[in-house]
Amino acid sequence: MSESVIVIGGGGHAKVVIDCIRKAGDRAVGILDDALEMGTMVSDVPVLGKIDAFKSYREHKFIIAIGNNAFRRELSKKMDVRWYTAIHPSAILSAYASIDEGTVVAPRAVVNAGASIGRHCIINTGAIIEHDCAIGSFSHISPAAALAGGVTVGEETQIGIGASVKNRLAICQRCTVGAGAVVVKSIDEEGVYAGVPARRIK
Ligand SMILES: CC(C)(COP(=O)(O)OP(=O)(O)OC[C@H]1O[C@@H](n2cnc3c(N)ncnc32)[C@H](O)[C@@H]1OP(=O)(O)O)[C@@H](O)C(=O)NCCC(=O)NCCS
Repeated sequence: MSESVIVIGGGGHAKVVIDCIRKAGDRAVGILDDALEMGTMVSDVPVLGKIDAFKSYREHKFIIAIGNNAFRRELSKKMDVRWYTAIHPSAILSAYASIDEGTVVAPRAVVNAGASIGRHCIINTGAIIEHDCAIGSFSHISPAAALAGGVTVGEETQIGIGASVKNRLAICQRCTVGAGAVVVKSIDEEGVYAGVPARRIK
């Protein structure tokens, strides 16, 4: 049976999430967003009100379509709802991978055998999560980023667009790895890392 889903957030990422919901055969019935006027359309989904209005829509499932990792964590703590997991049908998921609730797996992402993805993560367009990787909750693997086998990523970390991480490395929680970076050593301090090879810049 198809599911009906309320999308939290109406920005660019929400458009990708709406596509994932539709292509999975489910229905995005409305958006809740604090910055958009009621009635605004995002793709063809109407804004129904502010985020606090979620209590009126408990018959639906919810997904947080907001790129900010810390904000997804905060909202998920406040909202006692049933979470939807959005997986685009063009994504390739191993039968031996696990994906927790609230996560988005965007078009053409690959999640290989033995990988585990936490809650409310974003595995963005064309990202590659190789075998035996473990991605902490609320993290974001940006488009075309590639994690080699056995990489672990802590919670609330963002791996930037097109970045690569060598096999079996560990990246700690609340880090940002910049666009196009190549991570060749484990990262065990929170911060911003960029370049080839990646070094701490902030
Ligand atoms: C790394 C990043 C987080 C830094 O952002 P920031 O904190 O605002 O840093 P700034 O733009 O002030 O840049 C600081 C310095 O790092 C350099 N820098 C920034 N991003 C870099 C990158 N990806 N690779 C190499 N150097 C980078 C800048 O050129 C600047 O150098 P300078 O001091 O010599 O001028 C950001 O540039 C980035 O790459 N974000 C990832 C975006 C992304 O993947 N989005 C996907 C969304 S779906």
